[in-house]
Amino acid sequence: MKYLVTGGAGFIGANFVFYMLQEHPDDEIVCYDALTYAGNLETLESVMDHPKFRFVKGDVADREAVFRLFAEEGFDVVVNFAAESHVDRSIEDPGVFLKTNILGTQVLMDASREYGVARFHQVGTDEVYGDLPLDRPDLFFTEDMPVTASSPYSASKASADLLAMAYHRTYGLPVTISRCSNNYGPYQFPEKLIPLMIANALADKDLPVYGTGENVRDWLYVEDHCRAIDGILQNGRVGEIYNIGGHNEKSNLEVVKIILQQLGKPESLITFVGDRKGHDLRYAIDPAKIHGEIGWLPETKFENGIKATIQWYLDHEDWWKNIISGEYQQYYEKMYGNR
Ligand code: NAD
Ligand code: TYD
Repeated sequence: MKYLVTGGAGFIGANFVFYMLQEHPDDEIVCYDALTYAGNLETLESVMDHPKFRFVKGDVADREAVFRLFAEEGFDVVVNFAAESHVDRSIEDPGVFLKTNILGTQVLMDASREYGVARFHQVGTDEVYGDLPLDRPDLFFTEDMPVTASSPYSASKASADLLAMAYHRTYGLPVTISRCSNNYGPYQFPEKLIPLMIANALADKDLPVYGTGENVRDWLYVEDHCRAIDGILQNGRVGEIYNIGGHNEKSNLEVVKIILQQLGKPESLITFVGDRKGHDLRYAIDPAKIHGEIGWLPETKFENGIKATIQWYLDHEDWWKNIISGEYQQYYEKMYGNR
């Protein structure tokens, strides 16, 4: 099998490349990535010379380049991770989210139709379900809930999902969609909650918690996500949506306190800052469908996953210090300077 993995120089895509090369040593992977601020070739360093791996730099919204790549390579399976992925950035500048997340998905699906693929898998997010109230712990996201996005990011991801379902129904494109909860683990860009808090705590800087810190996320270790997508590729039903996540709900404040405790840093570093606009209250996945059909459940408990993640950031300071010393400094000043 030959896979096209888009966005494979980012957090989850890179972990997926590592997972697949390990689990399916006979399969080939081509990673196509524009190397935006979030894409980092250093992340892929360990596989760049792997005989079953090839990296191609390019934009998913560049129709000519994408069609050329499909013509050259002849893919069996496409897994689309490429996206603008940070909610706060989407609030500042939605345009690029619509271009990459919606039009980029369209271009990839058009090429998949033109050249033929056995599967087009769209990597989606649980944020397309909007949010759940904090006082109804009995409620969970299920696949049959309507999409109702809160941020430009989630609206763009919801649009891509709708387009993918439309391409399945109208053109018979063999689409599957997964909608995963918040991931954490190695190689996550330090603008996201967990790596940002680890980096700040290590530098004895304030930990900026939005609003009251009561917002709840359902955390999933990235390797569990990769295993779930692999399961859907092998055994998922075409035309179906699968939620991924479950059983790891924590408030932001709880997460931040765990990080401080693990690093032996004081809670006085916690600083409450202005809330995110449109801030979703609670995400929580019901994984019954993927469990029933694919046999998947999360394996990594948060207590273990967060320890492994913190250790990874301690062991790979060069990786994230390189990132936060560059253009990211300006981003940090802009987002947190007057918050
Ligand atoms: P990320 O921001 O770390 O990586 C995104 C990657 O896509 C980067 O390598 C970037 O260079 C690349 N990219 C961006 N625009 C591109 C373009 N126009 N053409 C080609 N490549 C482009 O994101 P992530 O956290 O790894 O998320 C990957 C996917 O998983 C996204 O689709 C996201 O919506 C989805 N997702 C993420 C989470 C999470 O918690 N991080 C949860 C559920 C779903
Ligand atoms: P984030 O990692 O951006 O993921 P998402 O918004 O996709 O869930 O944020 C996770 C939660 O942490 C979210 O409720 C916003 C909150 N948050 C903070 O409180 N402070 C921060 O500096 C960041 C980046 C996020």
